[in-house]
Amino acid sequence: MDWLGLEGKVAVVTGGACGLGRAICQSLGEAGARIAVADIDARGAEVVASALTEKFGGRHIAAPSDVASKASVDSMIDAVVGAFGRVDILVNNAGINIPRLLVDPAGKEELTEEIWDKVVSVNQKGSFLCAQAAARVMISSGNGGVIVNMASECGMEGSEGQSVYAATKAAVYACTRSWAKELGRHNIRVVGVSPGILEATALRSEEYERSLAYTRGITVEQLREAYRRCRIPLGRSGRLSEVADTVCFLASARSSYIHGTVINISGGKSRA
Ligand SMILES: NC(=O)c1ccc[n+]([C@@H]2O[C@H](COP(=O)([O-])OP(=O)(O)OC[C@H]3O[C@@H](n4cnc5c(N)ncnc54)[C@H](O)[C@@H]3O)[C@@H](O)[C@H]2O)c1
Repeated sequence: MDWLGLEGKVAVVTGGACGLGRAICQSLGEAGARIAVADIDARGAEVVASALTEKFGGRHIAAPSDVASKASVDSMIDAVVGAFGRVDILVNNAGINIPRLLVDPAGKEELTEEIWDKVVSVNQKGSFLCAQAAARVMISSGNGGVIVNMASECGMEGSEGQSVYAATKAAVYACTRSWAKELGRHNIRVVGVSPGILEATALRSEEYERSLAYTRGITVEQLREAYRRCRIPLGRSGRLSEVADTVCFLASARSSYIHGTVINISGGKSRA
């Protein structure tokens, strides 16, 4: 992985304690980066940071934080600068998904103002707060940097039962392009990745599957079958490592002219 030139770079990965974030921590760690595992799950972040040190050597830290809180994000970035003296890469990965219908005539699973605010505050406001705090450090260092935002193909395609989630992911596209226009002059690249259907993570919890199946008027088993039958030209779900490796490439100088765009990682599904 020397080809990437990420040795010694300092990377903050939000939502790094499990799922896609943990896979991104592993790929960046393998490439020699020093990682701050930023997650609301403090214990999970500790476990991942220790595992990185054990596996790849070097210093990696847990950076417990709630991306939806400005105070928490600011103190997390301060702690990272205190530990490593710099921030070179931010991966805005933390995200949640709570399926609901816009209108549920049965009144069971309808989108409430509270759920709308919760999903927006983590997925959308959280990315903004982290990007702002990290970009301030990158600008004042004069070294530039890279921000990688986690979108989802549903941000472009929409998704039945997941309108608020899809809306926050559409915002990721808009922020990626806008921040690229503002930050390019500071030598900070801003890019996004947009996964399609991946191997299951904690995001696909029993509660999530039950709600999503309900919003689509099908059973959980039918929902799982629909995922299996989904027409993906490559004929399989994506691996977390495949998204993580793309993030590493985008975080590296090997992608130095990729800026203000979101890379689709869906085995061809979205464009099929
Ligand atoms: N899994 C997929 O199929 C898929 C597809 C497309 C996009 N995504 C996106 O990838 C990202 C990661 O998803 P995942 O599937 O790994 O989910 P996950 O539930 O496995 O992991 C999410 C992580 O974010 C953390 N987190 C949640 N709220 C937080 C907060 N307020 N502050 C800090 N950390 C918080 C959780 O503790 C957890 O460690 C999300 O942005 C998601 O929208 C996932």
